[in-house]
Amino acid sequence: MERVHITTKSKRYPLYLGMNCIEQLDDILREMQPAPSSILIISDEAVAAFHLQHVLQIISNERLVHSYVVPSGEKEKSFENYYAIQTYALEIGLDRNSVILALGGGMVGDLSGFVAATFMRGIRFIQIPTTLLAHDSAVGGKVAVNHPLGKNMIGAFHQPEAVIYNTAFLDTLPEAEWRSGFAEVMKHALIRDEAFYTWLRKEIPTLSELRGDKLLYALKVAIGVKAAIVAEDETETGVRAYLNFGHTLGHAVESTMGYGVITHGDAVAIGMRFAILISEYIYKKELHAAELSQWFFQYGYPRLPAELDTERLIKKMKQDKKAYSGSIRMVLLKDIGEVEMVTVPDETVRLVLEEFRKREGLS
Ligand SMILES: NC(=O)c1ccc[n+]([C@@H]2O[C@H](COP(=O)([O-])OP(=O)(O)OC[C@H]3O[C@@H](n4cnc5c(N)ncnc54)[C@H](O)[C@@H]3O)[C@@H](O)[C@H]2O)c1
Ligand SMILES: [Zn+2]
Repeated sequence: MERVHITTKSKRYPLYLGMNCIEQLDDILREMQPAPSSILIISDEAVAAFHLQHVLQIISNERLVHSYVVPSGEKEKSFENYYAIQTYALEIGLDRNSVILALGGGMVGDLSGFVAATFMRGIRFIQIPTTLLAHDSAVGGKVAVNHPLGKNMIGAFHQPEAVIYNTAFLDTLPEAEWRSGFAEVMKHALIRDEAFYTWLRKEIPTLSELRGDKLLYALKVAIGVKAAIVAEDETETGVRAYLNFGHTLGHAVESTMGYGVITHGDAVAIGMRFAILISEYIYKKELHAAELSQWFFQYGYPRLPAELDTERLIKKMKQDKKAYSGSIRMVLLKDIGEVEMVTVPDETVRLVLEEFRKREGLS
């Protein structure tokens, strides 16, 4: 088992990474000060069906434990579920010394974290990620729910007490979710770590290679990139924004299609390919956009869905949290491993989006 420290301005906490590190959960809970007065496990239906019993069995003081299971899917990262969980927490008598366990992927992690951030002005929580994608979402303390008008529009910064990344839980993950999570792994390589990018291209020709020691290695490096950025900038006043590489168009695609219609990672993969193309245009530099797109297609990432028209996407991109005075701001790739935030004029976005559509075979 690996133990990595996540350090932010407001807090330092451990991330345990290993095949079966969930077995540490009881010790971690027992060592918490003050001792947890009660524990609420929040999960979703698919994850709970596979793994909730296992987690319940590990906790020795079962009298303290409650669980709340929401349906699976991105559309459940909603204000309605947030409110329903708060109601449940009040009904069962959670108090300031209670602890929430987020057992699931990024949806459960973001939702549970936002409940923890606001219940009685903030209580402790532990992230127990169960997807590949959650190597990203479980680290760094961004928690949120979606609004029909935009992704993650209602949220907070609230760091967990610990992250317990038990990779055996990934054994039940569907193939499409491996691909979704791998997009954030590719993102971490592209924005900050050329050597990792080279390793991925050589060692991971297909997603089925991402198992065992290679999985542990990739997670450790990708989490390291995320942790380094969060350590520098906890609340996104500077470099943390780089983590949004691919997310300007990605979020626009996700929310335009309807939450859960396309996975987060598939949408971000489209967004990254677009960001690379626009980077070539802005920097007037060959970044091998077509060849990089092939790298994405090698894993089965989709092309831009034909029904998404340029004007609708531009309108959505202007509602992005990075937008400033109505201008689209995007993270662009200067080179593999190097990005920066750039304000891109609407006309440029329009022009390159049209070129992108052409290259996708859409017009
Ligand atoms: N907070 C952050 O910094 C941050 C960063 C990146 C992404 N996110 C958010 O994360 C979310 C996406 O996370 P996700 O891709 O993990 O989605 P998810 O939590 O919805 O999980 C994807 C699907 O896999 C199922 N699943 C999860 N674990 C499983 C397992 N072990 N076995 C079988 N099925 C399993 C879920 O039930 C769900 O249907 C988005 O809402 C995104 O905005 C947040
Ligand atoms: Zn993301």
